[in-house]
Amino acid sequence: MKSAQDHSPSTTTYSGLAVHGRNPAIPLSKNAHLLKWVEKMARLTQPDAIHWVDGSREEHDSICGQMVQSGSFIKLNEAIWPGCYYARSDPSDVARVEDRTFICSLSEEAAGPTNHWENPYLMRRKLKRLFDGSMRGRTMYVLPYSMGPVGSPMSQIGVQLTDSPYVVVSMYIMARIGLPVFAEIDKDEKRVVPCMHTVGAPLEATQQDVAWPCNKEKYIVHFPETREIWSYGSGYGGNALLGKKCFALRIASNIARDEGWMAEHMLILGVENPQGEKTYVTAAFPSSCGKTNFAMLIPPAGFEGWKVWTVGDDIAWLKPDAENRLRAINPEAGFFGVAPGTSSKTNPNAMAALSRNTIFTNVALTPEGGVWWEGMTDEPPTECLDWQGQRWTPQIAKETGAKAAHPNSRFTAPASQCPTIDPAWEDPQGVPISAIIFGGRRATTMPLVYQAFNWSAGVYLGATVGSEMTAAAAGTIGKVRRDPMAMLPFCGYHMGDYFRHWIRMQRALSETPRIFSVNWFRKGADGKFIWPGFAENMRILKWIIDRTHGRALGQETPIGWMPRYEDIEWQGLEFPKETFTQLQAVDRNSWKSEVLGHEELFIELHDRLPPEIVYERELLICRL
Ligand code: GTP
Ligand code: SPV
Ligand code: MN
Repeated sequence: MKSAQDHSPSTTTYSGLAVHGRNPAIPLSKNAHLLKWVEKMARLTQPDAIHWVDGSREEHDSICGQMVQSGSFIKLNEAIWPGCYYARSDPSDVARVEDRTFICSLSEEAAGPTNHWENPYLMRRKLKRLFDGSMRGRTMYVLPYSMGPVGSPMSQIGVQLTDSPYVVVSMYIMARIGLPVFAEIDKDEKRVVPCMHTVGAPLEATQQDVAWPCNKEKYIVHFPETREIWSYGSGYGGNALLGKKCFALRIASNIARDEGWMAEHMLILGVENPQGEKTYVTAAFPSSCGKTNFAMLIPPAGFEGWKVWTVGDDIAWLKPDAENRLRAINPEAGFFGVAPGTSSKTNPNAMAALSRNTIFTNVALTPEGGVWWEGMTDEPPTECLDWQGQRWTPQIAKETGAKAAHPNSRFTAPASQCPTIDPAWEDPQGVPISAIIFGGRRATTMPLVYQAFNWSAGVYLGATVGSEMTAAAAGTIGKVRRDPMAMLPFCGYHMGDYFRHWIRMQRALSETPRIFSVNWFRKGADGKFIWPGFAENMRILKWIIDRTHGRALGQETPIGWMPRYEDIEWQGLEFPKETFTQLQAVDRNSWKSEVLGHEELFIELHDRLPPEIVYERELLICRL
């Protein structure tokens, strides 16, 4: 049996790449715990080789080159898509698998009713069996990563062992990886979160590999007390890039509760007004509900001199600073964004960010060696290969409804390439947060915008977010489900305790951010979105910013403060007052059923629901 130590330069039979003269089998860390763990895990999973990831460009290019050779990647046309690669996943491995995601806390109660729980001892036994020999015929990468800038007091460190080169080159974009992180680990100051990942497809000596190895059986498992992650059977983003949802949300939400901070499914943006005043806000929308687009908003006509800066598009870690002001960092270094609908009209900043050094997964491939997806251009290409490699034409689409790109196809692009990336986006102290916005995808009931009366009403607002389900997770698309704080799939402990933690954060803060609700997705009788969205969301954002500075008026309604038509900046857009009234309508009867809908979730959580939530609900009912 091989172990890390067996791969010494003289004895190795390793036949893979030598990276700029370095034998990747030689450990890059002196940390005894890490070396022992890697050895133990190699004994369990039995890879053919071990590769310590140094995170260099040369190493990245060499792994990509290997993936092109093996058929896992197609290199896109360098003249139009420099440094870009294309991947097609297995058709069964296209989204997060929430029903295969487990929080294995010691007690079932600690995981709460919104998580799948399994006895940790039994789960460990099951995982040992699954991982036994699971990396045979493959290379095990030792991938160290930092969530947040290396060395920042707000950052956290993980090491992912994975047999997926796709994961390694994706993490090269999405996180800080390699030598600087090993150096942090060797200081032995921060706890390291061990992350095991296998696609669960061992290769026998004579067996030909497939382009996207994975296993029908999937397990995405978290052990919150020991801060461990085990992921089996999938190569897809949120299931396999373990720094993202598994660590930065599910494990980090546990750490944050213990240490008095917050790990949230939120974008972070900064608004600069013509006077140069900068205000940062975060926004939590469920998966595929507009975070990336909002984070990269370009102010529309009528907003000359205004600028929106991007700090992050998916995850925020929020901590009170020495003055008890809430500050946020983006723990990620890249965007794993939804491709369909992204265009130079809807999101030019994302288009610029993904124009080079980007990995595309499950979009369509054009004959010129470029990519395309629904909504990217008004005119579809006359012909292309769809996300499954089948010939696709606009005619075929018309006849069969076939999509060229999977609805959850994604780009993986470096954040540094976003033209509006905030100068402070890597500030180790984070940026100060003045407002928190919640939103979802709601065809009815929810107005375009309102402000909660205060922090606890705002926590209630966040706790009752509802949204129509999207393609980001396997499940019924379009069904409204409660998605508290957009964290339903990502909160690593009991949701009732999570609400309590939110309520308690008020005491840690000298000033609480103001809390708002938005809904870009209200539909008219014709089934079309009433609000133009995207750049025009700036009009709503301006009111939000002005409210946080006490500069804008609002009207009291049963659900909160609302802008009147004249409180919104309309310069540059013809928008009838009647349409605005329609968007802002609070129908008492619909709201009464809405509040009944809140109850659905609360019934499950009742024994751990903080009293504030119960009282806020009563107050809301009374006002209605
Ligand atoms: P995750 O990465 O899954 O967490 O998603 P996200 O919240 O970052 O969503 P994203 O910004 O990628 O948007 C998802 C979809 O919503 C895309 O198809 C967008 O085109 C669409 N979308 C975003 N903003 C708006 C908007 O203001 N109005 C409308 N109608 N659609 C929008
Ligand atoms: C989401 O589903 O909310 C995402 C994509 O941001 S994934 O990383 O796959 O979870
Ligand atoms: Mn997300």
